[in-house]
Amino acid sequence: MNSVPIGLGIATPKKCLKNNDFPPGLATSDEWITQRTGIRQRYVADDETTATLATAAARNALDHAGISSEEIDLIVLGTVTGDYTFPATAVIVQKNLNITKGVAFDVNAACSGFVFALDVADAYLKQGKATCALVIGSDTFSKILDWTDRSSCVLFGDGAGALVLQARKNTDRGLISSKIYSDGSHMDHLITTGGVSTTGNSGVVKMRGQEVFKFAVEKFSESLDELLKNNDMTINDVDLLIPHQANARIIHKLMESSGIEKERVSINIDKYANTSAASIPLALHERKNAFFSGGGRNTVLLSVGAGFTWGSVLIRL
Ligand code: ACO
Repeated sequence: MNSVPIGLGIATPKKCLKNNDFPPGLATSDEWITQRTGIRQRYVADDETTATLATAAARNALDHAGISSEEIDLIVLGTVTGDYTFPATAVIVQKNLNITKGVAFDVNAACSGFVFALDVADAYLKQGKATCALVIGSDTFSKILDWTDRSSCVLFGDGAGALVLQARKNTDRGLISSKIYSDGSHMDHLITTGGVSTTGNSGVVKMRGQEVFKFAVEKFSESLDELLKNNDMTINDVDLLIPHQANARIIHKLMESSGIEKERVSINIDKYANTSAASIPLALHERKNAFFSGGGRNTVLLSVGAGFTWGSVLIRL
C-alpha cells in the first residue's frame, strides 16, 4: 500500500505586510530584511484563524483532487498556533468540512509540522487504518510574535497548505520514504515565553537566530544526504527540492553544499516569509504542475523547526 498525493491547496490571509510597512520605531529596513533573509513581504491574519486558513487550504486541495470531503477519514494537522487550547484545530477543520467519521488530530513540531504530519498520515494509510487523508500545515505566527522585537517579528507570516493523500495498492508511486527526528536539548534556542501550564498564556516567540541558522544548515544537509543514501539516489535524481522557508541564505547554503541548481529548488520566502508548518506546502504549491506531472519525478521535502525537530520526505509521482 502506498500513500499517493492527489491534490494540493493553499490559503493565505488577505492582509499583506511589506517590509516597508513596519513602523519606524522598529528600527528595521527593507534593505536589512531582504539582504539577511530574502523576505520582502508576508501575509498577516486579520479575521482569519489557523482553522479557517486550514479549512480553506483543505477545500482547495479537495477541489484539486476532484474528490468530496466524504472520502476523507483522516486529518493530521501540523500547527503550534491552534485556535483553542482544545479541541485540536484538526477537528475544527473536520467540522467545517462536515466530516463525522475517521479521526482528526494535531501534531506539534513547529516548522516541521507538515513533514511530521505527512510521516504520521503515511503510516496510517500504509497500515490500512485510513484510506484517504488530508495532511495540513497551518500557522498564524502573527498571534505569538513580539511586534517590538525586530530580530524575530520580521521573519514570520501566516498561511496554510493541504495535501490529499490516497491509499493505493499495486503502485510504486507516492510517498517513498520519510524520516523525522527531534532533539529537545536545543529547545531554548527557539521557544515561546509561555504556555497553558506555565504562565497561563501563549507567550511570544523568542529566538537565538544564529544558533537556529547553524542548526538548520547542518540538519538540511544531513537529512538530504541520509535520504539520498537510503534511497540509493544522487542529487541528480532529485527533480524538485522543497526546503522549509526560514531564510533564503539557509537554502542557498544547502544548494551550495549539495550542488543542486536553483531551477530544481522552490524558494518563495520573498512572498510569504516563514509560515512555519505551512511553509513546505506553500513552497510545493509554487511547483504544483511539475510535482503532479508524473513520469516518476522525485520530490524531496526538508524541514527544520523548533524543538529542535527536523525531517525529510521523498515523494515519487
Ligand atoms: N532589522 C535591522 N537590524 C536587525 C534586525 C532587523 N529586523 N534584526 C537584527 N538586527 C541587527 C542585530 O541587532 C545586529 O545588530 P548589531 O550588530 O548592532 O548587534 C545585526 O542586525 C546582526 O544581527 P545577527 O543576529 O547577527 O544577524 P544575522 O545575520 O544572524 O541574521 C537572522 C539574523 C535573520 C535571525 C538569522 O540568524 C536567521 O535567519 N536565523 C534563523 C532563523 C530561523 O530560521 N527561524 C525559524 C526557525 S523554524 C521554526 O520552527 C519556527
